[in-house]
Amino acid sequence: MEFPFDLAPVLGERFCVVDQHLRPAGRGGTAKREELEQQLRTVIDELGKASAKAQGLSTPVTSAARMESNRHVLYILRDTRSPKGAVLGFLKVGYKKLFLLDRDGSHVEVEPLCVLDFYIHESQQRRGLGRELFREMLQRERVQPEKLAVDRPSEKLLGFLRKHFGLCDLIPQVNNFVIFEGFFSTRTVPARRPFPRPRPEEPIKPYSLTERDFLREEPEPPWPFNLSRGSPVRGSLRPFLLRRETPAGTPPEPPPRRASSLGRVGR
Ligand code: ACO
Repeated sequence: MEFPFDLAPVLGERFCVVDQHLRPAGRGGTAKREELEQQLRTVIDELGKASAKAQGLSTPVTSAARMESNRHVLYILRDTRSPKGAVLGFLKVGYKKLFLLDRDGSHVEVEPLCVLDFYIHESQQRRGLGRELFREMLQRERVQPEKLAVDRPSEKLLGFLRKHFGLCDLIPQVNNFVIFEGFFSTRTVPARRPFPRPRPEEPIKPYSLTERDFLREEPEPPWPFNLSRGSPVRGSLRPFLLRRETPAGTPPEPPPRRASSLGRVGR
């Protein structure tokens, strides 16, 4: 993915790490600071749009504005060989408070590092770049792959995790996060927390709200066709309504115990 400006002063080296402050990573170049910041915003917005298109999402999960309002971290992979440098893809991660089910079906409150968005340019897929980027993230975050929660993974991502990290044994969940066998085991190096804890005055988000929940809004068909749909409440208000229906601090009811199935991973 190419841009009409030099990417070196914006993204720096092959791997660029961007947090909510959206600071350009490179040095040098002739552009002023504000110009570089604007260019970085453009790169993030374009990557977010390309990822959404690749996943068939109506709205990007990743944008400069969303980065600014969340404590997420973006790993951007750049091809440094072409004159201005091209962007090859990105991986977005962040810590989230979740209620997850363990193997026994008990609810556990956790705050794991979550894979939130992942994209490699179409012309560069299946060449090992996704693995390179993912490994860089694992190394920098000091986290093991089985300790990650994944927000509504695509079939491609499930195949990727299976192939490169042997992650295939899902622990079924009631939300759209996917975790794998080994998530709850304690025989691991403690994960580094690169982000400060949220300040008390910050708004408290509903537990287990996924990055993609705002995408769930569907147009309501006219009566009587709307009666055949399952739930009467859909759309972006649903997480808040669910919160009101449930006493504060009470985790949702566990699902009926069933064997793991990829079909349950909604997008
Ligand atoms: N179909 C099926 N599996 C695929 C595909 C594909 N088109 N592309 C990659 N994979 C999986 C396969 O397991 C593949 O191994 P194989 O070629 O032997 O079958 C493996 O990934 C290849 O590994 P890499 O080359 O390291 O991965 P790549 O650079 O292609 O990046 C990624 C993987 C990011 C999933 C990429 O395919 C992509 O951008 N896909 C479109 C967007 C997407 O689905 N992103 C994940 C959204 S969900 C989320 O972010 C939480």
